Parts: sequence; C-alpha cells; structure tokens
Amino acid sequence: MTGFAPDWLALREPYDRKARDETLLDRLAAWARAQDPSPLAPLVVADLGGGTGSTLRAVAPTLGVPQTWHILDHDPALVATGSALSLPPGVPSLEARWHQADLTGDLAASIPEVTALVTASALLDLVSADWLARLAALVQARGLAFYAALTYDGRQRWNPIDPFDADALDRFDRHQKGKKSFGPALGPDAPARLRLLLEGRGAYAEAPSDWRLGPDDRALQAAVLDGWAGAIEDAAPGDARGIQGWHAARLRHVEAGRSRLVVGHKDQLWLPG
Ligand SMILES: C[S@@+](CC[C@H](N)C(=O)[O-])C[C@H]1O[C@@H](n2cnc3c(N)ncnc32)[C@H](O)[C@@H]1O
Repeated sequence: MTGFAPDWLALREPYDRKARDETLLDRLAAWARAQDPSPLAPLVVADLGGGTGSTLRAVAPTLGVPQTWHILDHDPALVATGSALSLPPGVPSLEARWHQADLTGDLAASIPEVTALVTASALLDLVSADWLARLAALVQARGLAFYAALTYDGRQRWNPIDPFDADALDRFDRHQKGKKSFGPALGPDAPARLRLLLEGRGAYAEAPSDWRLGPDDRALQAAVLDGWAGAIEDAAPGDARGIQGWHAARLRHVEAGRSRLVVGHKDQLWLPG
C-alpha cells in the first residue's frame, strides 16, 4: 500500500487549497447550481483517494448547494482520521460518508449509482494509464462531471539553483513513474494523458495549480525535500553521496530562510455535454 501520513496531508492542505484554480471551481459551482439539488435530492459527489477529506473541505463550500459526499480511500487510518474531523461550515445540508475502498478493484461498483460529480485531488499522478482510461470511460459513459485537481505535472524549480537540481528532478520523476498501488504510475505524464482522454468529448478545461513556496514555508519545503531525497535514492540506488549532499545543501537554504520552490500541478475539469 502507498502510505500517506495524516500529518503530511494536513501540512499540504492549506497550500493545496490556495493553489486550486478558482476559475475551474467557479465553473464547477455554476454546473452544480444548474443541477438544482435540494436537501431531499442533494448533489452526490464521489471523492476518489480522498485521504482525510481535503477535497471535501475545499470544494463543498465553493459549490454551496446541498451535497452528499462519498469519500473513498483504501487506507483505514486516513478514513478514521478524516471521519473524525468536522464538516466544513457554511454549506446548507452537507453529509459525508466515508468508505474504505481499494479503487484498483471494481471501480464502477465503488462509485455509487446516484453520483453526479467525481473528484480526485493529488491522486492521478499515482495511477496507471490503464486505470485512468477506465476512469475516463466510466465518467463519460455515466455522464458524470469530473474535477481532478493538483496532479503533479513534472515542473519543479528550486531557488537558489544547485547544479544537481536537474539530475534530482530526473530521478524523482523516474520514481514517480514506478509501481504504485495502481501499477506503473503515470507520474508527471498524468495531466497530458487525461487531457487526451477527455478533450473534445464534452466541456473540458484545465489550469495550473502550482505550489509557490517562499522562504517562510520552511516546514513544507523541508518535508518535500525529505520525501524527494528518499524517492530519488530509491530510483537510483548507488549515488547516495550525491543525493545526500544535494539534500543537505537544499535543507541549509530552507533553514536559512532563502529557499523558494515551485511545484507544478494541473487542475482539470470535465463537464458532460
Ligand atoms: C497524495 S494522497 C491525496 C489525498 C487527498 N486526496 C488529498 O488531497 O489530501 C493520495 C491518496 O490516495 C489514496 N490511495 C492510493 N492508492 C489507493 C487505492 N488503490 N485505492 C484507494 N485509495 C488509494 C491514498 O491512501 C491517499 O489518501
């Protein structure tokens, strides 16, 4: 199982929220209002790989209509953490139902029949090309709206620069494309692959949702560095000294309050015809 610690998801949540593209959220909200949901017939949302519910907390208040969310994740610890958190305030008639579900199984059966909107955040770079094609086909066949946010797209820029940055990025991306719980992952190729699957078959839109971290964002930068150094070492065992030197130099910049980092993500929205 690919493990994501609740602490890591909590640390990134405010940055994710800030990075989400507002224009796509506004379009999604307009679509949601047009479905005319009511407390007796709320908009049903299925959030795939929902973790502790970051997407629910970011998106439900934006939609502002009566909603029932089904949050699906295979990790029981994340489901337990998320289901104990409060619902976001200010949404009329909001219900959240948590499910421990392995999405590599019967995907069609995992998404409740009455669903109108499928969401996924920070998930699609983990999935395989086959799985993404299955999901896109299912969304289109059932005429569901699809909001996929914060998918890593391979752009990373550290400042100050280090001669090892390009090498580190190359190795990191190789690790991102390694085997995850869904099989060989798309990693940074995921947004382009999803665009190919959806564009031209409904109303498709995409926008960047980059993290733009400044010198004060030390905790997230340090956590990103720790995660990446581990991933890079996994992808290219045998050059531990180069990686450790890069990691240590970058951490010194972070601790000294002079490090900046941009991580490229994409938000993508597909609305049925
Ligand atoms: C990067 S986290 C994102 C979590 C959440 N969407 C967020 O934005 O905070 C990826 C999530 O996918 C879940 N996941 C990974 N493989 C899965 C699978 N096969 N079935 C269901 N969930 C899975 C993980 O447990 C984790 O919660």
